[in-house]
Amino acid sequence: MIGTQPFTVAIDGPAAAGKGTIGRAIAERFGLAHLDTGLLYRAVGAQVLTGADPVEAAQGLNAQALENDALRTAAVAQEASKVAVIPEVRAALLDFQRAFARRAGGAVLDGRDICTVICPQAEVKLFVTASPEVRARRRFDELEARGHGPVFEDVLRDVETRDRRDSERSAAPLKPAIGAEVLDTSEMGIEAAVAAAIAFVEQARG
Ligand code: CDP
Repeated sequence: MIGTQPFTVAIDGPAAAGKGTIGRAIAERFGLAHLDTGLLYRAVGAQVLTGADPVEAAQGLNAQALENDALRTAAVAQEASKVAVIPEVRAALLDFQRAFARRAGGAVLDGRDICTVICPQAEVKLFVTASPEVRARRRFDELEARGHGPVFEDVLRDVETRDRRDSERSAAPLKPAIGAEVLDTSEMGIEAAVAAAIAFVEQARG
């Protein structure tokens, strides 16, 4: 337990890098709240797929919309990365994320722009990555376990397309923040990656 002071762990990285697993593990280990910010963009993307306007969907988003297994599909992920290039969509989601980050008791947030834009003052900044093939394999296993019946080549294409769109956009592009610890998990497996991330937070707590 870190106490009642705000304490923010910010995690960025490309698609399916293991940010969610690492974020959840850190939250559990240190008694912090956890926000998977990708779900915000996925929830907006899902509404756009049913005809909504992206900016209005982002402005009207509520927490209930985040708890939906249907947000996990590749189609929703693609739409999420398309709405994520729109500056007004990002702006509509900013205050909620910043307030979550500074809540009493501390928080872990994972996404694409957490260290660079949402919480540049975070006490811990991590950039979690892995090769596209390793990430696609992890996402494939996850989708299969959820019963989505994925095809590996499709999953790899989704990961690569989103990486390109997320890195090349002008609004809050994906990149390691200055001062972020880069954790390349290509060769380490998710348990070792979790252990390395926890060790890094321990160190930052002093
Ligand atoms: O789980 P995965 O890493 O595949 O994706 P996600 O974290 O759920 O994010 C879905 C999409 O939302 C990403 O491809 C980004 O385009 C966008 N996103 C973003 O722009 N900024 C964030 N902080 C989080 C997600």
